[in-house]
Amino acid sequence: MPLPSSVLVVGSGGREHALVRALALSPAKPRLLCAPGNAGIAADATCCPVPVEDIAGLAALAQREKVEFVVVGPEVPLSLGLVDTLTKAGIPAYGPKADGARLEASKVFTKQILLKHKIPTAAAGIFHEVDPAIAYVRRRGAPIVIKADGLAAGKGVVVAQSLREAEEAIRDMLAGNKFGSAGSQILIEDCLLGEETSLLVVVSGRDYVILPTSQDHKRIGDGDTGPNTGGMGTYSPAEVVTPALLARIEREIVQPSVAAIASEGIEFRGTLFIGIMLTASGPSVLEYNTRFGDPETQVVLPRLKTDLLALLWAAAHGGLRGMKLEVKSDYALCVVVAAKGYPDSYAKGDVITLPAPGSLLPAVTIYHAGTAQNAAGQLTANGGRVLGVTALAPTLKEAAQRAYAACDQIQWAHKYFRRDIGAKQLNRK
Ligand code: AMP
Ligand code: GLY
Repeated sequence: MPLPSSVLVVGSGGREHALVRALALSPAKPRLLCAPGNAGIAADATCCPVPVEDIAGLAALAQREKVEFVVVGPEVPLSLGLVDTLTKAGIPAYGPKADGARLEASKVFTKQILLKHKIPTAAAGIFHEVDPAIAYVRRRGAPIVIKADGLAAGKGVVVAQSLREAEEAIRDMLAGNKFGSAGSQILIEDCLLGEETSLLVVVSGRDYVILPTSQDHKRIGDGDTGPNTGGMGTYSPAEVVTPALLARIEREIVQPSVAAIASEGIEFRGTLFIGIMLTASGPSVLEYNTRFGDPETQVVLPRLKTDLLALLWAAAHGGLRGMKLEVKSDYALCVVVAAKGYPDSYAKGDVITLPAPGSLLPAVTIYHAGTAQNAAGQLTANGGRVLGVTALAPTLKEAAQRAYAACDQIQWAHKYFRRDIGAKQLNRK
């Protein structure tokens, strides 16, 4: 089947900017649209102001613009059934339908599948009421992990270090209103110790292709301190995942996960993002997401030699079998430049001056995440995570030097970024 000549990317973050840039490199040279996009994506695609929650509006846009393929970035439109709607309208799309998106939207649903199919994961209980939940944590002891069931934008997980903290989280989620309906049932699971990694897997039914490894930095502060965020930086490859460990993860987690999902009757065509804890007794699944990671995408896609459009198109059409991925030997590193105050409160509207492209070191790309343009046409900060500076280089150290040089060149009164992205891997050597 010929590759599509027009593609709509849904979303507005750094992940979507990286998707747009990678799709633009396809030899098929597709016309690119993005909804809603951001100020940086607007330079690479036609941005259309349709919000990601507006499923009917997105489908209407795709029809009006005669889009031949839709690539969905974030989880919300997936769980609202965007791909179901597009499929009914005869528009091919990359991303799971609502039944597959439930693997991210419901932690309880996923835990039941993991346990049923004996895929390594922390032991857990499911609770709807405060008293039995509290009795359970008193029995299991701290540390213990309390998770709200539904989508909570990464904020529904409390790793409680004490019973008091665990009980407070249980009350917040079940009796309080902190997470809205996301908190109507909770999962309480054993706390796993180890290093975290994640794997992005392009899945098409029972077939899959594992993308290059990467590692995120979730905490706001240097040395992995402070509150969790959506992700402050990434690098690829993650050498903690040695070829032998990757083979074990594929055997014990990826292959059984893909088979389990298919055997549950879910026709999954999209990205399965598997969060993994590398414990002393082996890799264990923390969660599934059903989309590309942000900012993992900003280091994984620039390393692909394989045409991303051909890969996603094949997955959407059930034609992944035998697909071999070609990857560059270069390292990639991405530093997220955020607004000071993130992940709590921060100002919007600050003017940002980016370095002229000619003044950047080689192989540096500034992806836009939360940017907009003001009435005067200036670039402004319009979110918590605002830019993602990715550099490729023959060594990780050089990639870090290149990315950080660009971060320092960005003029913005309230920029904040971690200074130690990649340090863990660099110091391991
Ligand atoms: P999740 O959204 O389920 O991946 O959880 C968010 C974060 O909470 C993970 O990235 C881990 O850092 C932490 N976490 C989740 N589950 C566990 C667990 N069972 N043990 C230790 N940490 C966990
Ligand atoms: N970087 C973590 C995520 O995309 O969920």
